[in-house]
Amino acid sequence: MALLEASDLEIRFGGVKALAGVSFHVEAGEIFGVIGPNGAGKTTLLNAISAVYRLDGGSIRFDGADVTGLRPHRLSRLGIARTFQIVQPFKAMNVRENVAIGAMFGHARLRTRAEWLAAADAALERTGLAPKAELMPPQLTLADRKRLEVARALAMGPRIILFDEVMAGLNHTEIERMIDLVKSLKQAGLTVVIIEHVMKAVLALCDRIMVLNFGAKLAEGAPGEVVSDAKVVEAYLGQRFAKAHASAQPAAGGAA
Ligand SMILES: Nc1ncnc2c1ncn2[C@@H]1O[C@H](COP(=O)(O)OP(=O)(O)OP(=O)(O)O)[C@@H](O)[C@H]1O
Ligand SMILES: [Mg+2]
Repeated sequence: MALLEASDLEIRFGGVKALAGVSFHVEAGEIFGVIGPNGAGKTTLLNAISAVYRLDGGSIRFDGADVTGLRPHRLSRLGIARTFQIVQPFKAMNVRENVAIGAMFGHARLRTRAEWLAAADAALERTGLAPKAELMPPQLTLADRKRLEVARALAMGPRIILFDEVMAGLNHTEIERMIDLVKSLKQAGLTVVIIEHVMKAVLALCDRIMVLNFGAKLAEGAPGEVVSDAKVVEAYLGQRFAKAHASAQPAAGGAA
């Protein structure tokens, strides 16, 4: 069943259509990837879904109900959580308190400070940040600040999490750890949307991918199909990626 369904989303900035009628759906339990060149509209799409931007057109359904136009905190309480491409922790609060803020504003049922902190502690455990709970955000590495974003989203008790470039700027080892974290979320039954330029992560994680280009959908499908689509290679991946990817695949007709 589709957990999230977006129809004909349109966002305009002045004369520019940052999203020009994008439709897609995300199945419950899947990892759905959104890729495309810089400026293609990926973050705008996420801002449209999480109601950071008002839609100029289109509609959004979540779990069968029309949620178009609902405010961000209503959406979080329904179970839609997100991270931000530019990580933005509250600098005067420690890591644990930053995560508790997610529970406080975004969780549908938790009412007391003790409950928010308990939700924060659970999220810190899941993201491997528990040993750093008492640190202040500026003391964290970028990889840990990205984990903090994930933990804050988890503390909302979401059903779907939308990730905006949680791998960006991380080194090889940190990317592998983040891939494992996202896999563990899927295994726990969460639905995930990831916007990502790190193709290794996209290919390791996604069940399906949508490619955006100039605010419109260029392609959609299984990762293997999408990355060998000539339009996608031309607009985004480039010939070098296509050749490297093709040579990494078993030869057609070869033994499985
Ligand atoms: N708040 C805004 N005001 C005006 N224009 C905006 C705003 N947000 C995004 N845009 C424009 O919308 C287009 C899509 O931007 P968006 O940030 O969604 O791209 P993106 O696919 O996330 O790119 P990147 O991979 O670099 O993060 C760009 O032309 C951008 O300049
Ligand atoms: Mg972006």
